[in-house]
Amino acid sequence: MCVENRIKEKFTELYGGSPDAVCFAPGRVNLIGEHTDYNGGHVFPCALDLGIYCAARLRDDRRLLLYSDNFPDVGVVEASVDALDGDGRWSDYVKAVLNSFISYGYLLDRGMELAYCGNLPDGAGLSSSAAMEVLTGVVLRELCGFAVTPQELALIGQFAENRFIGLNCGIMDQFASAMGRADHAIRLDTDTLRYAYAPIPHDRAAVVIVNSGVKHSLASSAYNDRRRECETALAQLNTAVKARALCDLTPEEFERCQTAITDPIALRRARHVISENARTVKAVQALCDGDLDAFGRMMVQSHCSLRDDYEVSCAELDRLVDAALALDGVYGARMTGGGFGGCTVNLVRRDAVDSFVSAMKAFYLATFRREAPIYVIGIGDGARKL
Ligand code: GLA
Repeated sequence: MCVENRIKEKFTELYGGSPDAVCFAPGRVNLIGEHTDYNGGHVFPCALDLGIYCAARLRDDRRLLLYSDNFPDVGVVEASVDALDGDGRWSDYVKAVLNSFISYGYLLDRGMELAYCGNLPDGAGLSSSAAMEVLTGVVLRELCGFAVTPQELALIGQFAENRFIGLNCGIMDQFASAMGRADHAIRLDTDTLRYAYAPIPHDRAAVVIVNSGVKHSLASSAYNDRRRECETALAQLNTAVKARALCDLTPEEFERCQTAITDPIALRRARHVISENARTVKAVQALCDGDLDAFGRMMVQSHCSLRDDYEVSCAELDRLVDAALALDGVYGARMTGGGFGGCTVNLVRRDAVDSFVSAMKAFYLATFRREAPIYVIGIGDGARKL
């Protein structure tokens, strides 16, 4: 049974009757442009056709009943629109979004019955949390009639993550989930939020994700550390040059003023961010020109920079990238997302996809002694009511 029908059935079983609305928000995979989105740089993600579904109904009182089919043991979590404190469970994401709408000035005066279910692999770095946030925003828009645009949903989702969950993420994940377009990646300038869609040449290549299975438990603290290191780099650079964000600088400008950074770690972080931003702009251009070889080469450079300068890769991701690059028909491979585990993204020549998948499965089994979670992904539309 498809997830949409399953969550409708579950809703009826839990709450009786039928939902007022069923909504969906996708996860995302980033093709290139990593750790640039909180430094005023460019990113190039696309929305997946996998994500999270929510069946939802308004109540006449102020109670909230929240259920996730991905955490069935937790059962129905009860809360109220007047008591939205987090308690470390999955439902904190829902409460964070409700709190954020209140902070943005929306009047939340009725309770709700919500049932969630997703088909994104858990802890794989494909942005299940951003999908939850954007999805909850879509649900509020549909149930409460809030006039909120997809871009605002992304911003409110990011606010929820920063302010109530405590991860100082950039805008990329929420933006991709809210604004995705089928068969396109989004070139987003995170400084201005200007964006454009670039078609993925499906006839020539496929995007394949390989999940390392390493869950990024360290990720949130290490992520916030990286952010701080970038701030240190920017502050030190500002003694020599005027820049509002690291990505204001071209690699050439950085070359000239980098000695202003006295902290060696901050220096490497800045070098990654500034080179990655320039690389992302060039890579998008290469893709638009149909030069998949050049795009693939830049994916590999991105991986090396994340591994060596930004230090957010791990041994398993490095091995998966190396194994992929040794195969025929692979334009490029890199880690994707925040890092410390999660997935690699591979751009594979269309006629080599089957041999790529079987070779990677064999490699994975021999190396990690587990079945390989590999997804030849579909690129889908952004969050919506179904
Ligand atoms: C996580 C964050 C994003 C972005 C990436 C790294 O996914 O949520 O905002 O910073 O890491 O590119």
